[in-house]
Amino acid sequence: MTDKSRVLIFDTTLRDGEQSPGATMTHEEKLEIAMLLDEMGVDIIEAGFPIASEGDFAAVSEIAKRSKNSVIAGLSRANYKDIDRCWEAVKNAARPRIHTFIGTSPSHRAITKLNQDEMIARIADTVTHARNLCGDVQWSAMDAIRTERDYLCRVVETAIKAGATTINIPDTVGYTLPSESADIIRMLLENVPGADEVIFATHCHNDLGMATANALAAVTAGARQIECTINGLGERAGNTALEEVVMALRVRKDLMPYSTGIDTTKIMHLSRRVAQVSGFPVQYNKAIVGKNAFLHESGIHQDGVLKNVETFEIMKPADIGITETNIAMGKHSGRAALRSKLKELGFDLADNQLNDVFVRFKALADRKKEIFDEDLIALMTDSAANTDSDYLQVKWLRVICGSDGQEAELKMLVDGTEKSAKCSGDGPVDAVFNCVKEIYPTNARLKLYQVQAVTAGTDAQATVIVRLEEDGRFSSGSAADTDTILASVKAYVGALNRLRVRSQKTAPDADLKTISFKL
Ligand code: KIV
Ligand code: ZN
Repeated sequence: MTDKSRVLIFDTTLRDGEQSPGATMTHEEKLEIAMLLDEMGVDIIEAGFPIASEGDFAAVSEIAKRSKNSVIAGLSRANYKDIDRCWEAVKNAARPRIHTFIGTSPSHRAITKLNQDEMIARIADTVTHARNLCGDVQWSAMDAIRTERDYLCRVVETAIKAGATTINIPDTVGYTLPSESADIIRMLLENVPGADEVIFATHCHNDLGMATANALAAVTAGARQIECTINGLGERAGNTALEEVVMALRVRKDLMPYSTGIDTTKIMHLSRRVAQVSGFPVQYNKAIVGKNAFLHESGIHQDGVLKNVETFEIMKPADIGITETNIAMGKHSGRAALRSKLKELGFDLADNQLNDVFVRFKALADRKKEIFDEDLIALMTDSAANTDSDYLQVKWLRVICGSDGQEAELKMLVDGTEKSAKCSGDGPVDAVFNCVKEIYPTNARLKLYQVQAVTAGTDAQATVIVRLEEDGRFSSGSAADTDTILASVKAYVGALNRLRVRSQKTAPDADLKTISFKL
C-alpha cells in the first residue's frame, strides 16, 4: 500500500463478532452479511475460523468464492493443521489471506507451555508455512498489550522475517488506554527491523469502553489497519465498532487526515441486518446507529436543528444511509411501492422474496392502519427468521389470558409432522413456551427474553428476541408481530431451530479464552 493516509478496514463481524455467545448466524445469513460488507468497501473480511467447525469452513469457502472486492481472511492457530484448513477455505478467493495467531503474553505462554524461545521458533515455523501457501499472511500477537515490550519486539520481528505482511497488535482483554495504544505501535515502528515494510493493525476489545478511542490512537501512531465489527458485536463488551471509527475518521478529518474505502451510506442497513441476524439489538443511544443517535428531543435542540442542522448535528443521517422520508405505507400500497420503499431501506429483493414479503405486508396492513419504515424493517426480520424449510414451524396458536388464568393451545410442525399441546403457565408467554417444550422437549435454557415496541401506538408491532443455551451452545431468535405472544413463540421456535443447527457443529461455542491452545 503506497498511500500512507489510507486506513484499511478489516471487518471481523463473522469471526470475532459471531464468537459472541448467542450471536449465531446461519450459513445464508453469513453469506448475505459478507456480500453487504464486500459492497460497502470493507478491505478485508475475516469470514470465520475454518478449523472450528464444518459450518465455519463451509461459510469461509463460499464467501471466498463469492467475494468481488474484499480480501477474504480465515483465522488459524499456530499449527499446520489449522493453517492448512484455513488455506483450503480461503484459497478460492480472488484475494485470499491466512490469519494466524498465538498468545504472546506470560499467561498465554503458560497455557501453551512454551517458553519465550520455543514460542519464537513456533512463530517462525508457522508463519513460514503460511507464507509458503499464501502471499498475504497476517500474524497476530494475541494479548499483545500485556506482553513484555522487549519480547513483543522480538516476536514481531520474527513474524516479519518469516514473511508476515500484516502484523496485528490486539488488545484482547480491552485493557489498554489511548496513550498506551499509540505508544506501543510507535515503539514497534521505531524499534523492529522491517517494520516499515508491513502494515500494522489494531484490534481492540471494548471492556473499558475504549475500543474506538484506542483504535484511532493506534492509527495516529502509524497503524494502517483497523479491525472492527458492525455494531461493535463481539464477546463480552464487544470489539471496536466499524461505524464509529469510520465516521470518526470522516467527521474529524481535520485532526485525523486519513481515509477509508467505506461507502458510509450502507452503514445503517448493515447495522440493522447484523442486529437482526445475530439477535443482538442495538442500544437506543449507541453512537452512529442507535435509534436515538439523530433524535433531538429537547426543545432547545429541536429549535436549533430546525434553524440550522449543524447546531447540534456533526453528521447527517443520510451520511449513514438513513432516509428521511418516513412516509407511511398502507393497505392500498402496491407491490411496486413496497419494492421501492424496501430498496430505499437497503433491502434489494428478488421477485420471489418480494412476493413473500408482500403477503406479510398486506396481512400487517389489515391489522395496522399505517405502516412505517420501522414496521417494514421488522417485517423483514420476521421473514428472515422463519421459513417453510425450518425443522420446527409454528402453525396455529390460541391463548386465553386474564384474571381467570392463562392457557395456550399450540400446533406445530416438527420435521413435517403436525403435533399439538395444551398447557397452562405463569402468564401467557409461559403457557405458550410450555406448549413448545411439550411438543419438542429439550434441555435448552432461556437466557434472554426481550420485547421492544417497533413504533408508537397500541397497534404497534412488537419485536421479540429470545436467546437460549444448551450444553454450552447458544442461539438467538427474533420475530415481529402486532401480537406479542405470537412474536414470542416464533422467536422461541426460531432460536430452537438455530440451536439444532448449532449442535451439529463439532464443538460448543468457544471464545478464544476457552478454545484449546494445544498446538
Ligand atoms: O482478541 C484477539 O486477540 C483476537 C485475535 C485472534 C486476533 O481476536
Ligand atoms: Zn478479538
